[in-house]
Amino acid sequence: MNMSDQISQLPYTIEQLLSEAKAAFERAYVPYSNFKVGAVALDDDNQLHYGCNIENAAYSPTNCAERTALFRAVADGKRPGQFQVVAVIGDTPDPITPCGVCRQVMAELCGPDMPVVLGNLKGQYRITTLSELLPGAFTSKDLHS
Ligand code: THU
Repeated sequence: MNMSDQISQLPYTIEQLLSEAKAAFERAYVPYSNFKVGAVALDDDNQLHYGCNIENAAYSPTNCAERTALFRAVADGKRPGQFQVVAVIGDTPDPITPCGVCRQVMAELCGPDMPVVLGNLKGQYRITTLSELLPGAFTSKDLHS
């Protein structure tokens, strides 16, 4: 299935996904950067898993919104390949772009063709795929050759 077919079969519009991600954005815990990010991961049962960034006084334990959403989903029983789309929103001049660590986590948990919706508070968005965000990802198949 191509990406526009995948998108059109989702039970949510792009605007709805970004609006749900915005609800998570509002819950960000960001006392250090003051830069809020929100994300949702839609699973194969059409359930949304919400994530926000959560910062820490020691800085490096900070968890990005994308990872919070996906890790919550895994903790709730979801497994690799059981995600239909991830949507992310931030207050950025252009649609937000995920960090490298989150790209690697998505490479573990999401298929290479899974759509990733990237938005900002101005209503701009772009739709990409994981393989575009992280070509040549190191994955479990590289461990077991
Ligand atoms: N951040 C995210 O949560 N997701 C992204 O895609 C980019 C960066 C967070 C991490 C940190 O809390 C803040 O944004 C500034 O980097």
